[in-house]
Amino acid sequence: MSTRILELLACPLCKASLRDGNPLVCEKCYHPFPIQDGIPVFLPEETWEDPTKRINRDHHDREAAQYDEMHLHIRREARLAKRILGQVPPGGRILDIGSGTGFVPKHFPHWEICCCLDISRGMLERLRDTIGRPNLYPVQGDAENLPFASDSMDIVTFAATLHHLPDPGRSLREAARVLKPGGKAIVIHEPHAVAPGRIHYLFLAARFKWHSLFPGKVGREAAHWARSLYPELPEEEAIRAMNRANLEANIQQGLHPQQLFDAPLRLDRFETYYSGRSFFDRIRSILFPAEGELFFAIAVKCR
Ligand SMILES: C[S@@+](CC[C@H](N)C(=O)[O-])C[C@H]1O[C@@H](n2cnc3c(N)ncnc32)[C@H](O)[C@@H]1O
Ligand SMILES: [Zn+2]
Repeated sequence: MSTRILELLACPLCKASLRDGNPLVCEKCYHPFPIQDGIPVFLPEETWEDPTKRINRDHHDREAAQYDEMHLHIRREARLAKRILGQVPPGGRILDIGSGTGFVPKHFPHWEICCCLDISRGMLERLRDTIGRPNLYPVQGDAENLPFASDSMDIVTFAATLHHLPDPGRSLREAARVLKPGGKAIVIHEPHAVAPGRIHYLFLAARFKWHSLFPGKVGREAAHWARSLYPELPEEEAIRAMNRANLEANIQQGLHPQQLFDAPLRLDRFETYYSGRSFFDRIRSILFPAEGELFFAIAVKCR
């Protein structure tokens, strides 16, 4: 493992530094972390205690090959991503959390080092095979227990990631920990929870997602899927985990930005926007111009 990247890594459990080798070994708690086919894996057993994380891993492993065709934001939000990330001076160290197939590194190639963290190995392999740029480091790990040293990153990005996590606030606190003071956390493509009256559910339902009418309640399809994947989980628990994973099969439940950006992150910029281009989306943007279905935000680490 190169010393440049080893210096940035840390034990996800106790945050101590790691001894080089395969496995990498924590210098304090001695937990081993294997490097598999060039990708370090920071997923101790405890990670899987929360079924939401297993669901996310398995869902995204399955989706990796078709992800770019299925997710239109990859094309629709390229200009927005370039505009936001273009404000970042080139040459820094970036950590992209929930990197997937690499939406962020694709649109912002001017890094010194870009660490791409994801819980899904399928996604990371796809990213590595499609973005062959130097200084891009895929790392398999959990957004809520980052395997990175404190005060080590200039930028941390989350593109379409926070709403999949059981505790997005915890992941933002971890982001704040690994950012250098003055470093920026950038959130793109987050479902927006502040919609007055949440009338947009009617529009989603009109696009044949009938279960969207019941936000917070998983649809029949999703419940079936959760049970088929995890037959050992009691039904109620599988459904709860599906809801918290907030995946495609379910309505994308919104997040309220104020609930996310606690100290020591100071919210600097916040904008809502519509990503869709269907007829209903256009009507929505005329009827509710300030509502948006999604938001992006930039926050600064204060100390
Ligand atoms: C909707 S995709 C977004 C991918 C990419 N950032 C983009 O904009 O296209 C969400 C990603 O978050 C990852 N993810 C979900 N839960 C995670 C966790 N606990 N830790 C790290 N990554 C996670 C998924 O595997 C998936 O690749
Ligand atoms: Zn440790």
